[in-house]
Amino acid sequence: QQPQLRFDSKVALVTGAGNGLGRAYALMFARFGARVVVNDLGSVEHNGKKVRAADLVVEEIKRAGGQAVANYDSVEDGELLVKTAIDAFGRVDIVVNNAGILRDKAFANASPEDWDLVYRVHLRGTYKVSKAAWPHFLKQKGGSIINTNSAVGIFGNFGQTNYAAAKAGIQGLTNTLALEGAKYGIRVNAIAPNAGTAMTATVMPQEIVEMLKPDYVAPLIGYLAHESCPHTGKLFQVGSCWISEIRRQRSGGVGFPLSAPLTPEAISARWHEINNFDDGRAHFVADTRQSSAELLDNANNTGEEQNNEDDDDEGK
Ligand code: NAI
Repeated sequence: QQPQLRFDSKVALVTGAGNGLGRAYALMFARFGARVVVNDLGSVEHNGKKVRAADLVVEEIKRAGGQAVANYDSVEDGELLVKTAIDAFGRVDIVVNNAGILRDKAFANASPEDWDLVYRVHLRGTYKVSKAAWPHFLKQKGGSIINTNSAVGIFGNFGQTNYAAAKAGIQGLTNTLALEGAKYGIRVNAIAPNAGTAMTATVMPQEIVEMLKPDYVAPLIGYLAHESCPHTGKLFQVGSCWISEIRRQRSGGVGFPLSAPLTPEAISARWHEINNFDDGRAHFVADTRQSSAELLDNANNTGEEQNNEDDDDEGK
């Protein structure tokens, strides 16, 4: 039997936790013993009154016997969110950068204001909250950040240039922060979730919204946030209790000899090799240094070895 993963001495800060996925994360952390900062700048209708979304979640946690405080600032003011954690609980151990908005429009019609807003909430917000938590993580030699990417940030989607770019930026931040945090015991991962929420209700049919519960995503956040989890710098796709890791695959590549000028025509002639993922040479690339190894090797490609290989091939 696996030991239960508890968060009894820990403080978790969840952004955009008044609704949807963030709310599910906040409730889960509280259920497993964490003290929780529930951040959300939004309001919702409740019993005919407009109330702070964060307050409702805090009340729900407290009613169940947990500990939580609300914070109503925008993630763009990340330092205020972290201040709430320090003022209320004296520490911060876990940051889930989850807050988000959409401003979907085809690129031709999308305004620069929407571009800036989506960038500010997603990428700059993730940066600001992480930046404010970082000195605490460094001092206590540990901490976990979970950032929120999206399938759209990985694969793209029509009408979502602003969102796709901001989410892809979050992945770049995640990859690099994981490297910088490693020697201090700070782990940084990202997820691309799928869940029926207010955000997806605008684009998904109602029965799918109801099927894809945020509670089906939350346990992965629990595992990644827990100090027993060794993983960092990873990206996971998760939804409806289905979880997988995404990694980058590269074709075997073609090294052209440096002895002759490389031309667009020469590239075109070997294009089928450049994009061949089925010749047994395709591989997964772990990091930037590994990614440049073959490229640097090719600096010694005088063409002789290459020609020999070609001769061999022809002889077969
Ligand atoms: P949601 O709309 O239900 O919840 C987002 C919350 O963030 C809202 O309560 C909103 O008030 C809050 N928020 C917005 N701007 C904020 C700001 N500047 N500061 C603080 N809070 C702010 O959305 P959902 O679906 O729960 O999304 C959560 C995250 O997951 C987002 O980052 C979203 O992009 C991402 N995501 C969700 C998917 C899904 O299927 N639901 C798919 C892919 C990514």
